Amino acid sequence: MAHKKIDADDLRVGMYVIMPTSWDEHPFLKNKFRLTSQTQIDKIIDFGLAQVLIDTGHSLPEALSSIERMKKYETPKPAESAKKPEEPSKEEKQLNTAGDKLREAIHDGSLSASEKSRIVRDNALTMMNSLLEQPTAKNIQTAKEAIIQIVELILTDDDTTSYLTKITSYDFSTYTHSVNVGLLAVSMAKLLFRGSNAHNMHEMGIGFFLHDLGKVGIDPAIINKPGRLTTDEMTVIRSHPTIGFKILEDAHRLSEECKTIVLQHHERYDGTGYPKQLRGDEIHLYGKICSMADVFDALTSNRPYRKKMDPFDALILMKKEMINHFQMDLYEKFVYMLS
Ligand SMILES: [Fe+2]
Ligand SMILES: [Fe+2]
Repeated sequence: MAHKKIDADDLRVGMYVIMPTSWDEHPFLKNKFRLTSQTQIDKIIDFGLAQVLIDTGHSLPEALSSIERMKKYETPKPAESAKKPEEPSKEEKQLNTAGDKLREAIHDGSLSASEKSRIVRDNALTMMNSLLEQPTAKNIQTAKEAIIQIVELILTDDDTTSYLTKITSYDFSTYTHSVNVGLLAVSMAKLLFRGSNAHNMHEMGIGFFLHDLGKVGIDPAIINKPGRLTTDEMTVIRSHPTIGFKILEDAHRLSEECKTIVLQHHERYDGTGYPKQLRGDEIHLYGKICSMADVFDALTSNRPYRKKMDPFDALILMKKEMINHFQMDLYEKFVYMLS
């Protein structure tokens, strides 16, 4: 019997886990058991365990070999790199590496859909973190190329898409949120526009992933403030769609639709949004898709002032309390996509 301590993030279905014996309130019936579902892994992570002991002898070989296969795609975790300010060239380097790894993983036939979705998400997070640290035109271009790869993956690989849309987020940093919204909104666009040549899915995808880019121009103390915002702070926050639009305009080579998504993602169907209080069909269809994915991800992620909601509860809340914010048929398609 061999025991090994691994990061909770590396847990896979099929591994035999040994819970800490002193942990008398853990949410499982037994202290030792084989993982049979992603939900159990989510519970362990949610419980706050950073590392977990596994019994390799009782784990399925496939679950153990998954870690080895995924190792070569690892990049430094965004949280670590965020701690120390890096030279501009390092941000660029990190972005390039994440983009390369994304590309390689997407075309690696030996990876399962679940492995691929994790690698794509992890590297997209690294990429987005670097971009938000340093949103230069050059870095926007590098991110654009990587996002196009992700969009192609979503368009051509249904199995991986289904994993990508079901990954639960645990924190609410702008880069995590950007990736979640990007993945959800591209998947939604695929459902709506499948078989049509009238839409540029690449430009749309870039708009979804970069929708909150303007937050780089906002004081993080306001973005992360746990309590209620003052009217002045609210005004500052509400400038992020316009700031993002300007950054993309200055970067050039992005389409009007792409910039429109960034500008309109907080507009609401009933005219109660911002910055222009557009209503109904004044809001671009892509802006409406982005706004729905945006609200859903905000509700299902932990915030400084409240715990994340279950996806099902979030959809119910969107219907009961916010339905006037959305176009009804789009909301129904969104529910269909997640069910
Ligand atoms: Fe936003
Ligand atoms: Fe957002």
